[in-house]
Amino acid sequence: MSTQAKSTLNFYVVMVATIAAIAGILFGFDTGVVSGAILFIRNEYHLSSLMNGIVVSSVLGGALVGSLLSGSFADYFGRRKLLIITSIIFIIGTLGSAMSLSITYLILSRFIVGLAIGIASFAAPLYISEVAPLEHRGALVSLNQLAITIGIMLAYFVDMIYDHNLNNWRLMFGFGIIPAVILFFGMLFLPKSPRWLALKGRIDEARKTLQRVRGIQFKESELTGIRNSLKEKGSWTLLLQRWLMPAIGIGLALGFLQQCTGINTIIYYAPTIFEMAGFKSAAGAILATTGIGVVNVLFTIIALPLIDRWGRRPLLISGMICMLLSLGFLAFSFAYQADIASLRWFALVSMLVYIAGFAISLGPIMWLIIAEIFPLEIRGFASSLMVSASWMFNAAVALTFLTLIQKLGQTGTFLIYGVICFFGILFVIFKVPETKGASLEQIENNLRAGVRSVDLGKSK
Ligand code: BGC
Repeated sequence: MSTQAKSTLNFYVVMVATIAAIAGILFGFDTGVVSGAILFIRNEYHLSSLMNGIVVSSVLGGALVGSLLSGSFADYFGRRKLLIITSIIFIIGTLGSAMSLSITYLILSRFIVGLAIGIASFAAPLYISEVAPLEHRGALVSLNQLAITIGIMLAYFVDMIYDHNLNNWRLMFGFGIIPAVILFFGMLFLPKSPRWLALKGRIDEARKTLQRVRGIQFKESELTGIRNSLKEKGSWTLLLQRWLMPAIGIGLALGFLQQCTGINTIIYYAPTIFEMAGFKSAAGAILATTGIGVVNVLFTIIALPLIDRWGRRPLLISGMICMLLSLGFLAFSFAYQADIASLRWFALVSMLVYIAGFAISLGPIMWLIIAEIFPLEIRGFASSLMVSASWMFNAAVALTFLTLIQKLGQTGTFLIYGVICFFGILFVIFKVPETKGASLEQIENNLRAGVRSVDLGKSK
């Protein structure tokens, strides 16, 4: 049994989560937009491939640093204030990128945007998970992932629209200013996280905020649950304790699996892969890429209501099986492409199925579980470490993809992601808990009691 009675979703909490999720649009837009913009930057500044790589990955470097800092910042400033500060960093970095006077300036500005992405990628799901009622936590937190996919799709559209005008990379980057300003003003009106208020000992304010976000469904027992979870003084040394190891293992593994099954080879390099698969015209490759963006959004929308209804595990397992099969087919279509021309369509369908599988599984659920499994006292610090690790894996895959293709060929490369996916499915089956319907405090109690990791979401 959960510690809360069944609740219906009220409009206010949906609005709060939606506004915070605008941070996800910025995340998606700013990581996606560079794939098109780089073509123009490369020509204007006559970049070597090394400089090319540095411009593309400066944002990932920034995100890594930002996510490392974000945990302590989220505890110090509070989740809401941190998201306000982040929107200002987004604005500064976006203006800097759009108006940059030299390539060094551009790299620095993209690094600043990356800082904001790293902080936002951690702070937005954390904030939403702490405001959401438990029955709807999955869908509300995953609004952030939906926003990421919308941001990526917007970036693909913006790249497509500006494609033919010279020097338009500044406009491509500059478009990001719109969601950043909306996030800034929107966050000003949102409440502080009740769990953060309780963490700071501001119990009356925490109660008032809970009353506001729950409306008539407010129950004092929710606040009591939060307060009970705060009995032990939190410090980062808690992270070294044995009972936390299952949470750390699950967080790291999901971050690894989300990135090392190859998602961003497709998100960042889709046009390149389509060209390799035989789509000769750039227009065809770009159109196919836009298709990837749309399918990503659509299947995330399909996943949202199912996450709290079917649960995290069935979606993770079925989505990852789709990913595994399509990676196998993709490898196969590259292996036999020279013999059968129509196999490029096979490659396109495989990539669409792969994206659909990702969108219902590792896409939303990795962020969700990372925001759910750590005890309140170290939630900020611990989950930010997990998010940083996932940015590290992201950068590693992005930086090695083209070299792997050169050394192993497309077939070998996609097979590697496939093998990782296969072991990932086994890991999910045996280790990842079902957190649907479990309160954050209940998950913590199970961790402390040394329950098997796969059972962490169960009531005792
Ligand atoms: C991942 C990103 C990825 C995006 C694709 C996110 O959950 O963290 O790396 O580009 O999903 O939708």
